[in-house]
Amino acid sequence: MILVTGGAGFIGGNFVQDWIAATGEPVVNLDKLTYAGNLETLALLADDARHIFVHGDICDRALVDSLFAAHKPRAVVHFAAESHVDRSIHGPGEFVRTNVEGTFTLLEAARAYWNGLDAEAKAGFRFHHISTDEVYGSLGPHDPPFSETNNYEPNSPYSASKAASDHLVRAWFHTYGLPVLTTNCSNNYGPYHFPEKLIPLMIVNALAGKPLPIYGDGQQIRDWLYVKDHCSAIRTVLTRGTPGETYNVGGWNEKPNLEIVHTVCALLDELKPDPAGSYVRLITYVTDRPGHDRRYAIDARKLERELGWRPAETFETGIRKTVQWYLDNQTWVRNVQSGAYRDWVAKNYAERERAQ
Ligand code: NAD
Ligand code: TYD
Repeated sequence: MILVTGGAGFIGGNFVQDWIAATGEPVVNLDKLTYAGNLETLALLADDARHIFVHGDICDRALVDSLFAAHKPRAVVHFAAESHVDRSIHGPGEFVRTNVEGTFTLLEAARAYWNGLDAEAKAGFRFHHISTDEVYGSLGPHDPPFSETNNYEPNSPYSASKAASDHLVRAWFHTYGLPVLTTNCSNNYGPYHFPEKLIPLMIVNALAGKPLPIYGDGQQIRDWLYVKDHCSAIRTVLTRGTPGETYNVGGWNEKPNLEIVHTVCALLDELKPDPAGSYVRLITYVTDRPGHDRRYAIDARKLERELGWRPAETFETGIRKTVQWYLDNQTWVRNVQSGAYRDWVAKNYAERERAQ
C-alpha cells in the first residue's frame, strides 16, 4: 500500500492509474479536490478495491495521522500542490499554505509514523516528493540545462513555494534521517491536463474558436515531457533511488511556446479541420506574465545513468496522442469547465491587453 497525495490532479491522476496497472499495489489517494482535482480522472478506478479515495487536506494533521495508522503505507508519493504560476501571481497565500505548510504537515506525520516502525519497515519506507525544474530559476539562451547541483533561484510565488518545500524535505533527511526522494521535473503534458495550462488551453480554445493567447513574444522556452514518462520516472526512482538524493526528470524537448502552439494547430488542422481555416488564425499576442522565466531546460543524465530511466515518447508522438485524447474526451473537458474555471479565465485574461 502506498499513500498518494493530490492523486485527483493531472500528474497524480495519471500516476495512480499507471501505478495500479503496472504494479497492482493498492493506493490510498488523499486529495482536497480543489478546482484542479477531478474524480472523473479516476473514473476507471471507481469500482477498483485497489484505489481508496480520501477527500481531505494535507494540512489536516489529524487526518493524515489517521491515514498512516489505518493503512500503514510503505511509501508516500506527494503530488498535492497548487501548481499554476499565473494563479500564484494573483493569490500566493494558498501556495504557501498547501505547498509549504502542507508538505511540512506531511513530513511531520510521516516522521512520527516512521519512528514507530520496526527496523526493516523503517529501512524500506520512502517519502517521495514531486517537484519542479522551476525551482532553479531561468536560463539564458546559451546556459547548460539545469542539473541537480544548480543553485535554487525561484522567481514566481509558485516556484518559491516549491523550493521551500524541497528544502524542508531535504532537511527532514539530514536532520531526522527520514528516507526521502525528490524529483524535479520539467513541464508535463498529456491526458487529463487542466485547461488552464498552455497545451490543453490551446487545444480547448482552438476547438471552441476562441483566441490562442500568447504571452509576450512567445519565445519563452520550456522543456516538455509526456506525463506517462514522468510517471515511469517516479516509479523508477521510488523503487531504486537512493534516499536523500534528488533526480531531475526531463524529455530533452526544449521548445519555444509559439512553436508548441503552431504544432497544436497543425495537428488540429489534420485531425479536426475547421472550415473557417487553419487554427493559427486564432493566435493572439497578449501582455506578458510578470517575472516570466525565459527558459527552462533539464539535464536528466543522472536519472538515465544511475537508474537506467529513459522517456518512451518523443515530443512528436506525445503531442499527437495528447491532441487525439482531447478530441476523444470532450465530455471530460466540458465537465472540468466549471463555474470556478470560467471565473478564473475571465480574471486572468480580462486584465491582459491585446499586444497586437
Ligand atoms: P494539479 O494542479 O493538476 O493537481 C494538484 C492536485 O492536488 C489536485 O488534485 C488538488 O485537488 C490537490 N490539492 C491541492 N491542494 C491540496 C491540499 N491542500 N490537500 C490535498 N490535496 C490538494 O497539479 P499537477 O500538474 O498534477 O502537479 C502535481 C505535482 O507535480 C505538483 O507538486 C507540481 O508542483 C509538480 N509538477 C508539475 C509539473 C507540471 O508540468 N504540471 C511539472 C513538474 C512538477
Ligand atoms: P504554463 O502551462 O502555465 O506552465 P509554466 O508557467 O509552469 O511553465 O505555461 C507554459 C508557458 O506558456 C509559459 O511560458 C507561459 C506560456 N503561456 C502562454 O503564452 N499563454 C497562456 O495562455 C498560458 C496559460 C501560458
